[in-house]
Amino acid sequence: MSIVFQISDCHLSDETSYYNFERALGEVSKDTAHAAVLLTGDLVCGPKPGDYTKLSRIIDKYIKDKPIYAIAGNHDDLVLMKKELRNSRIKVVKYCRIAGREIVFLDSSQKPMNSVHPLGSGRLDRLELSLLKKVARKRKKPIVVIHHPVIRVGSDWMKAICLENDDYTFSILKRFGVKDVICGHGHDHIVTTKEEVTQHMAPSTAYGFDHKISEYNRSALIGINKLTLFNGQVTSEIIRL
Ligand SMILES: [Fe+2]
Repeated sequence: MSIVFQISDCHLSDETSYYNFERALGEVSKDTAHAAVLLTGDLVCGPKPGDYTKLSRIIDKYIKDKPIYAIAGNHDDLVLMKKELRNSRIKVVKYCRIAGREIVFLDSSQKPMNSVHPLGSGRLDRLELSLLKKVARKRKKPIVVIHHPVIRVGSDWMKAICLENDDYTFSILKRFGVKDVICGHGHDHIVTTKEEVTQHMAPSTAYGFDHKISEYNRSALIGINKLTLFNGQVTSEIIRL
């Protein structure tokens, strides 16, 4: 059994967002046996030079000897993120292995092609889709890590700021028997299963969304996801901050 922590949607910008990010890292550092940490996008809000360097310096204070992987969200600047994290301990990679499981990291921070999708939506481009197919074909049932959910969940406004090509992406998961998706974006811990694909959505460390409310809202419900990899399965629980 292996524990992986998922820290998501940190939206680092103001003092409170940094304070809560450090609280999240404090929680992670209490568990000295965890296998890895996943940072699943929207790490910085309105990124400017130096922000990702600052993020990696903060992480270094809390996590010294564990692998850390990051993907971008719709609020991130992937070019700046890759540049500033290049010489850090945070890996921005396409795939890896954690606790005996293959992991594929997909970049959904690309803007949708169709303007019908509101700001905040994402898309997997051809390269990302072919990567998914290649990895899924060669490696046994990888865990997919992506910022936007592949299965739409939450309130209607959240479902609108979706992954533009989520249906097609889901069909690839089905074709290759991929069963596990780990995502952020929804600022809430929501586990959902559709046709044997289970998606674990993480809460945000910055602010929550109450999906029972039909309009956009922000709540104080923040946290991180504690993922357990055991016997070829993934389960998740929320740790509230
Ligand atoms: Fe977010």
